[in-house]
Amino acid sequence: MGGILVIGSYNRDTVLRLARFPAPGETLTALGMAPFHGGKGSNQAVAAARAGGRVALIAALGADHAGQAAQALWAAEGIAAQAVQTTSAPTGAATILLDAAGENQIIIIPGANAELAVPVGFTPPADIAVALAQLETPQAATAALFRALPGARRILNVAPAAPILPELLAATDMLVLNETEAGILAQREAAPAALALALAAETMRDVIVTAGAAGAFWARPDGIVIDAAAPRVAVADTTGAGDAFLGAFAAFSAEGLAPERVLRQAVSAGALACTQDGAVPSLPYRAAILALAG
Ligand code: RIB
Repeated sequence: MGGILVIGSYNRDTVLRLARFPAPGETLTALGMAPFHGGKGSNQAVAAARAGGRVALIAALGADHAGQAAQALWAAEGIAAQAVQTTSAPTGAATILLDAAGENQIIIIPGANAELAVPVGFTPPADIAVALAQLETPQAATAALFRALPGARRILNVAPAAPILPELLAATDMLVLNETEAGILAQREAAPAALALALAAETMRDVIVTAGAAGAFWARPDGIVIDAAAPRVAVADTTGAGDAFLGAFAAFSAEGLAPERVLRQAVSAGALACTQDGAVPSLPYRAAILALAG
């Protein structure tokens, strides 16, 4: 089984639980507030490790308590913190609004994440099967790191949605994004499978669009689509569901499983992540994923 290299962000999440989202100009009283580990890169690294992957992470942190907490998390999760950079900017942060249906709205303050750079003298760890990155850290650094890993499956989670630098797309093998992000990238509204097909044809890359309770759709540039239905679960908090999907997808891809199986298990991981509050507490372990996926 090959290893997984995650290039990405860490954020200290502050989750505000609300009865509903505020309207513009409105003041609301929160029902509760809780801090969690977060950041799409760190979440995906933890999810991949819990799914059974051998994971290394490249990230940037501030010289502060949140940065120390991140390092402690990664050590506890068995993640090799490869080339963690300490910057003069504070550790990244996010404020997450969570409504009664478990849907969220997320605002990130990038901090140190915006300063992530290619480590001086970087040599990729040996035997990397999957490289995984998102758009909460600089695209140019991700492109350079992806170029250094031509033998790996290089997966870009297009989140938050933004135009992809040509140099990054050129070094990427697969795009993964949710249906909202896919609509932004494709600049139109359509069904998730149609968005996946359109983006695959446009980018000439494999594209997976995740669609919450509707499952996920994996389109290839030749027009073939594989889909996986989502198991029904009781939703508490959808935060981190996409990260659970990505981490599990990376871990099961690194094992060389068939695409249909990798997709089904990743969708199950995403569903399980909706059943508990917070991103990291809800990221599922391998046994639970396999039990749900069947
Ligand atoms: O995907 C969820 C994550 O997005 C949160 O943990 C938050 O930090 C933002 O990065």
